[in-house]
Amino acid sequence: MNTLRIAGVELEPWEITRLQELWPQGVFSEHRLDEAGDLGDPEALIIFIYSAITAETLAKMPNLKLIATMSTGFDHLDLAACKARGVTVCNVPTYGENTVAEHALALLLSLSRSIVPSVNHTRHGDFRLDGLRGTDLAGKTAGVIGTGRIGRRFIAMAKGLEMQVIAYDLKPQPALAKELGFTYVDLETLLKTSDAVSLHAPATPETFHLLNAARLMMMKPTAFLVNTARGTLIETQGLIAALEAGKLAGVGLDVLEEECVIREERELLSKAFQKQCDLRVAYADHLLLEHPRVIITPHNAFNSHEALLRILNTTIANVTAFQESQPANVVS
Ligand code: NAI
Repeated sequence: MNTLRIAGVELEPWEITRLQELWPQGVFSEHRLDEAGDLGDPEALIIFIYSAITAETLAKMPNLKLIATMSTGFDHLDLAACKARGVTVCNVPTYGENTVAEHALALLLSLSRSIVPSVNHTRHGDFRLDGLRGTDLAGKTAGVIGTGRIGRRFIAMAKGLEMQVIAYDLKPQPALAKELGFTYVDLETLLKTSDAVSLHAPATPETFHLLNAARLMMMKPTAFLVNTARGTLIETQGLIAALEAGKLAGVGLDVLEEECVIREERELLSKAFQKQCDLRVAYADHLLLEHPRVIITPHNAFNSHEALLRILNTTIANVTAFQESQPANVVS
C-alpha cells in the first residue's frame, strides 16, 4: 500500500491521539491551516471548515493529492482550484441522523413525563408528585415536518413508541411512507391533529417562520412541540403568544432563532466558532429560557461520542481508501 505523508488541522486532542496511533509520522494540529505552522509538505490533508483552501494555499503544498474535510459541506474549498491541481476532495456525507433524532425524542419524553421539573423537585428534597403527572405517547399522533435523514429516524422511533405518525414534506416520499407506516398530510392538518410535532426541515427561505403565529395557534393546548432543526423555523414571538394563549403543553428547543448561522454542527466545538459567534449572547436572558412550559438545550443534539467518532472514522476511511487507490466520498 502506498503510504502518504499526512497532516491534519482543526483537530481536537482526542482526534489527534487517534490519528497519531494510525499515522505516527503525521503532523496534526488543533489550529486552523493558516495558524498551524509547518505541516511538512503533506500529500493528504485533513481539515475542517475554518481552513479555507484556495489556489494560494494549494501552492504552498506542492505535493498535495488529497483533502479530506471533516465536514459535510465544502464551501470552504475552492473545488475548481483543487481540480486544476489534481487534488481529490472527500467529505463526510452523514454522521448523526440517529443522534439528532434521539435528542428530539429525549426532548419529547422530557416534556411528556415532566422530567425537568421532576428532577428539580427531588434535587430540592421534594418527593411529592404535585404537578408532575405525565402524558402517555403510545396511541397518540406524532407529526413530523421534514422526512429526510433525521426525520425518518424520528418516525421509526415514534412508531416504536406505538405512536401514529403523520408527516409533512415539500417532497413526499410515498415509498418511505409505506415502508415506515406513516401518512403524508398538509401542514395545517398536521398542526391541528398532532399531539407531538417534531421539526426536521432545513433552514431555507421557504421554511423561515414555517411555524408562524397563526400556525402555532392551530396547535392543540395539549400538544408538544420539539425543534432540533433550525431556530428560524419557528417565529419566536408567535411561540410566546401561542403559549400565553394556552396553546402547547410543552416546547423543547435545541435551536433558537437568535443563533448565528451555523453551517456545520461540529463548528460549535471549534475555538474559531466560539470567537465568532457566542451562543451565550444569543441565549442570555432569552424570553423562552425561563418559561415554565419550555425546555432548552444549547444546540447539543449532534453532540454524542458516537457521532463525533463517526466523523473521524469516515475521515480516516476516506484517507485510507484514497491510499488504496479506491477513493470514497469523493466530492471533486
Ligand atoms: P435532510 O436534507 O435529509 O432532510 C430535510 C427534509 O426536509 C427533506 O425531506 C426535505 O424535502 C424537507 N424539506 C425541505 N424544505 C421543506 C419545506 N419547506 N417544508 C417541508 N419540508 C421541507 O436533512 P436532515 O439531515 O434530516 O436535517 C434536518 C435538519 O436538522 C436540518 O435543518 C439540519 O440543519 C438540522 N440538524 C440539526 C442538528 C442539531 O445538532 N440540532 C444536527 C444536524 C442537523
